Amino acid sequence: MSEKYYLTTPIYYVNAAPHIGHTYTTIAADAIKRYKTMQGFNVTLATGTDEHGQKVERSAKATNKSPEEFTDLVSEEFREQWKKFNLSIDRFQRTSDPKHRETVQWLFKRCLDRGFIYPSSYTGQYCTSCELYVTDAKPGDPCPDCGRPTETVTEENYFFKLSAFEDKLLALFEANPGFLEPAIRRNEALAFLKGGLKDLSITRTTIKWGIPVPVPGNHVFYVWFDALIAYMTAVKDTEGLWPADLHLIGKEIVRFHAIFWPAFLMAADLPVPKKIFAHGWLLFENDKMSKSRGNIVRAEPIREVMGADALRYFLLREIVFGSDGTFSFDALVARFNSDLANGLGNLASRTLSMIHQYRGGIVPASTEECPFEVRKAIAATLTAYENFEFSKALEAVWGLIAAADKFIVQQAPWTLAKKTEPELIAKLDHTLYCAAEVVRIATVLLAPVLPESCDKIWAQLGMPGNVGGVHFGSLEWGQLAAGQLTNKPEPVFMRIDPVPAIEKMRELEIAETKRQNLLLGKLEEKTGITIDTPTIAIDDFVKIDLRVGQVLSAERVKGSDKLLHMKIDIGESQPRTIVGGIAEAYTAEQMLGRKVVIVANLAPRKLKGIESQGMVVAASVEGGKPVIAGFLEEIPIGARLK
Ligand code: ME8
Ligand code: MG
Repeated sequence: MSEKYYLTTPIYYVNAAPHIGHTYTTIAADAIKRYKTMQGFNVTLATGTDEHGQKVERSAKATNKSPEEFTDLVSEEFREQWKKFNLSIDRFQRTSDPKHRETVQWLFKRCLDRGFIYPSSYTGQYCTSCELYVTDAKPGDPCPDCGRPTETVTEENYFFKLSAFEDKLLALFEANPGFLEPAIRRNEALAFLKGGLKDLSITRTTIKWGIPVPVPGNHVFYVWFDALIAYMTAVKDTEGLWPADLHLIGKEIVRFHAIFWPAFLMAADLPVPKKIFAHGWLLFENDKMSKSRGNIVRAEPIREVMGADALRYFLLREIVFGSDGTFSFDALVARFNSDLANGLGNLASRTLSMIHQYRGGIVPASTEECPFEVRKAIAATLTAYENFEFSKALEAVWGLIAAADKFIVQQAPWTLAKKTEPELIAKLDHTLYCAAEVVRIATVLLAPVLPESCDKIWAQLGMPGNVGGVHFGSLEWGQLAAGQLTNKPEPVFMRIDPVPAIEKMRELEIAETKRQNLLLGKLEEKTGITIDTPTIAIDDFVKIDLRVGQVLSAERVKGSDKLLHMKIDIGESQPRTIVGGIAEAYTAEQMLGRKVVIVANLAPRKLKGIESQGMVVAASVEGGKPVIAGFLEEIPIGARLK
């Protein structure tokens, strides 16, 4: 029985369809799985979808679907995506799975029985977008992660005694220097730990769409307690897979994985994961991809135009795993052409072509020593893989490819092929053997990153089975058998003309955005509208005094479904009384503390008997609900918009 290795990706939220950021993590996990398999481990890879919480409840409502229908739909998008990329997922865990409900309730009870969970009342600022209470925030403060306004909530919750685990967590980090990597993330987590831990509220009564807490009352689990446990649920039916060997995550969720999660497990007296590795962010046009910025790239159009391996190679070669990196279509195509088409592809096809042309497709025997530092290249590649340094691993293989290219040019087999002297015939045999053996070794070493292409090259070399079945431990020079019949060489990577390819990918990106928006019930972008309002001079515009205000109080106007009666501070000595027609879209609590845009010099008018001294600016489409204007960055009350 080979040793087990259990690794996971995050369990992705279903409030967005998969994009290239999710694909990045999942591809890396797949590459690690393939690497570990070729090291002889019995590997299990789990991923899944995180389906509970307020945001999902809202998205479902916005699409007129039940949360169940909505999550079925989006979860399937993720599964489909991984299938199309041929990622070797063993477990796909949904948090809405009844089996998961059991695990969460079971783990909660274990923590409760051991005295690490207690009820208490909590008032705090909550970011519905990140599903996170923002500690130390005041009403109206923005969420530090996404910049959106936080909401004030008070409720009776169950708390997890995180504060009891400071020393145990410090001891864990101390005893296991590789517990959290890379070092920069470990240092951040240690600094956070040393700053002291506050207890965590882990249940909610304000949310319906969640796993019920096995206590009296209407509590459901807070999404992170629920989500993290999915890593256990995924392998609960298989003896011996827990603890996980590796949780692969993005850097923004380190705290949950490296601090909260081990504490939950320690409280339940269960083993903690062996390692957490947090990679960096994939940026697009130097910005973090985000739904609110609308600069999201999806992987599917890239796969359709260039193939899955092209994207795998780019992501793992271009970006230092662990650091942030930028995705661009230009760089993607440039890398493909220089490294895959010209580098690996060209070496494979010219080598096989020469074997066919000069030796009838049969691998000749080598007559001399290996001219390359192969052992060193193999060791460098495997060490780099072991440390998840993909770009370094790939560089090491390309070093070997470059050496083979240089060797071929030096030996000039095309000249040797015209000679009849026995020593020159032997020299040609040796050249062809060496080139083919480099192709074979490179193919083995690259199989974790380029599984599809390496299988093709492997078959063309006439090797038996799949390249993924080779054991790295036995890889060495000289295993290619002389006399082996190779197959007809066919180019595995065709050079790509950048302009039409990029145009095509961008076109498909737009179509994919539309499809996803439709699926998620997002409003279609308004394109092709005609703006026929008469133009105005700037003097006319400055007559409108628009100010930043903050909502101090809000309540429904009695006898009206639409109107909200608010007191809004716009920096004057007295707050304004403003009545706005937004009550169908926003509750009074949601408005509390929010920064809004006010028309400050609108003539007062009476609505339901209340004098409204201004107007809250909101956008809407025909028949849609109003969406109030706000700010992503900090801006003081009273600031003027112009
Ligand atoms: O956080 N660059 O889910 P999520 C790199 N449900 N990686 C990115 C990325 C980007 N621009 N965007 C997303 C959640 N990712 C929780 C996790 S786990 C118990 C619960 C990847 O849908 C990266 O792995 O927001 C990141 O950590 C993850 O997707 C976040 O996915
Ligand atoms: Mg996220």
